[in-house]
Amino acid sequence: MMIRIEDFADRQNVRNIHLVSFSDETEANLVDALRADGSVEISLVATVEDDIVGHVMCSRMQAPFRALGLAPIAVLPEFRNQGIAAQLIRAAIDMAKSKGWEGIFLLGDPAYYQRFGFSVTDAVNFQSPYAGPYLMVLSIKGDVLPVQSGVIEYAPAFDQLG
Ligand SMILES: CC(C)(COP(=O)(O)OP(=O)(O)OC[C@H]1O[C@@H](n2cnc3c(N)ncnc32)[C@H](O)[C@@H]1OP(=O)(O)O)[C@@H](O)C(=O)NCCC(=O)NCCS
Repeated sequence: MMIRIEDFADRQNVRNIHLVSFSDETEANLVDALRADGSVEISLVATVEDDIVGHVMCSRMQAPFRALGLAPIAVLPEFRNQGIAAQLIRAAIDMAKSKGWEGIFLLGDPAYYQRFGFSVTDAVNFQSPYAGPYLMVLSIKGDVLPVQSGVIEYAPAFDQLG
């Protein structure tokens, strides 16, 4: 398994990962809408023998510090529970760090994402329509976020989500 930056030619395969992984087209369409927005900062694919088996995207968002939103992430069903998503997430975090980003927000199950350092507690003082038990944030520049409260806004493409 390898992780690499997505190429233009990967786009249809990436869309397919999300169509197969989620119950409807929402996430696949989100990926396309984020590209159309010009909001994409990181888009990585996991490959096995040159086939794309997983994908993660991070987009620029409004926050009181330099923040990305991690979404979506998916791995093809037959390749799950082998740590592929974990490697995609760690690679995205490393790339965000190397590009000077200060934090990453995401929405997801804390039981999974806490292992990477994402914290619900650190996200509680950020106002967002997504605020609640699934909103998490990871400080990537230092141990503590540069600013610990404020309003956050995901890229415009997220507005289409119901
Ligand atoms: C979530 C997902 C990306 C994980 O991919 P993966 O490559 O199997 O992940 P890893 O192998 O790194 O980790 C597997 C762990 O994730 C857990 N897990 C799988 N799906 C999960 C989910 N939706 N929420 C929380 N935990 C989940 C597994 O139980 C396993 O836990 P364990 O390590 O404690 O045993 C994959 O299951 C997927 O594509 N699901 C459908 C799309 C989706 O729900 N994306 C996430 C939206 S937040």
